[in-house]
Amino acid sequence: MRTDIRNKEDIKILVDAFYNKIKTDGSIGYLFTDVAIVNWEKHLPIMYDFWDNILFHTGNFDGNPMMKHRLLNEKSTLTETHFLHWTKLWKKTVDDLFEGEKANEVKIRAKNISKAMMNKVIT
Ligand code: HEM
Repeated sequence: MRTDIRNKEDIKILVDAFYNKIKTDGSIGYLFTDVAIVNWEKHLPIMYDFWDNILFHTGNFDGNPMMKHRLLNEKSTLTETHFLHWTKLWKKTVDDLFEGEKANEVKIRAKNISKAMMNKVIT
């Protein structure tokens, strides 16, 4: 039975599962593996903190996502299709693993941030 997202351990499970999919994803995987050449040992803990802060208000994320994605867009053009695919993959990963209030929240927040990012980064 699926539980809700209860703590940082659950966030790690979610984020790890998501980026495992991303790495081999046919539509946007190359942006991570070939364009940005992501250092996963650094990136994953940043993403744990990012979502931990969003769901549990821990205050321990101090990155600059808009800037990172603007730089990425300068290297290789990001499109609405990329962002929609990202959100679809996020939703599927959440639904496969969790259900509940926080699980719903993490999907809604991702969708809203994705929209805001699209507006700031690709227009
Ligand atoms: C087309 C969709 C997207 C692509 C291709 C993408 C790709 C990337 C890449 C390559 C990085 C940089 C990793 C590095 O530091 O080397 C990054 C960082 C990040 N992304 Fe995305 N991303 C996308 C959408 C999103 C969305 C929708 C969110 C939030 C809901 C998000 C949240 C973040 C955060 C928080 C960081 C870390 C920023 C920091 O280190 O300051 N991304 N992304």
